[in-house]
Amino acid sequence: MERTRRDFMTRVGGIVAAGAVVQAHAAAGSKTKDESEKTAALTPHKQPPLPYTYDALEPYMDARTVELHYTKHHAGYVNGLNAAEAELAKARDANDFRMIQHWSRKAAFMGGGAFLHALYWSCMAPPASAEREPRGALAAKLVNDFGNIPAFKAQFTSVAETVEGSGWGVLAYRPEDRRLIVLQAENHQKLSPWDATPVLCIDVWEHAYYLKYQNRRADFIAAWWNLVDWEQVAKNLDAAP
Ligand SMILES: [Fe+2]
Repeated sequence: MERTRRDFMTRVGGIVAAGAVVQAHAAAGSKTKDESEKTAALTPHKQPPLPYTYDALEPYMDARTVELHYTKHHAGYVNGLNAAEAELAKARDANDFRMIQHWSRKAAFMGGGAFLHALYWSCMAPPASAEREPRGALAAKLVNDFGNIPAFKAQFTSVAETVEGSGWGVLAYRPEDRRLIVLQAENHQKLSPWDATPVLCIDVWEHAYYLKYQNRRADFIAAWWNLVDWEQVAKNLDAAP
């Protein structure tokens, strides 16, 4: 059974990447290094494959939204994370940290986007194949931590509906007290506690639903519940550190 954080991060989204290792200063294309100096290697992040076809989530999520969301938005966050990390490496290489705040913020924003989108896709499945409701140990855990499953769903729905602007609703596991908690994330990274591991999330940025649902975020959230792959959520909980 997978138990490490590294395993979890790898499985949900390529935050721990599997690509070729490049040298930071090479990626940054900057100055020549003295051979005696050591430069940390960067591992480029890769966007994990979409686990279904663009139209697989119809009728709840339209094919065009999935295509644009995956190929433009999600891909953009992965590329943005790689770019931010290359700039941070360049800064270390040059010992020039004048832009450290900017690139640190970019890395957090892009990294949050890359991670949450990968989790988002992985926690959905075509409506005919998805587990319709949580079962077994996951269902018992939800009952234990929220009182009952409708109460969990009501809190999660409310959190997602009330995100100010762009953001996410997140179900996360907190190892300190071994509880599942519902979180609200603004953008991709704000309001996020350090010690909780997301196991399910819903994207409520307008790009996630506007083509089909326009301003009706609540309708999108109600439809999204039909796509949750509870079996995958259970696996994520099992793998959470
Ligand atoms: Fe998104």
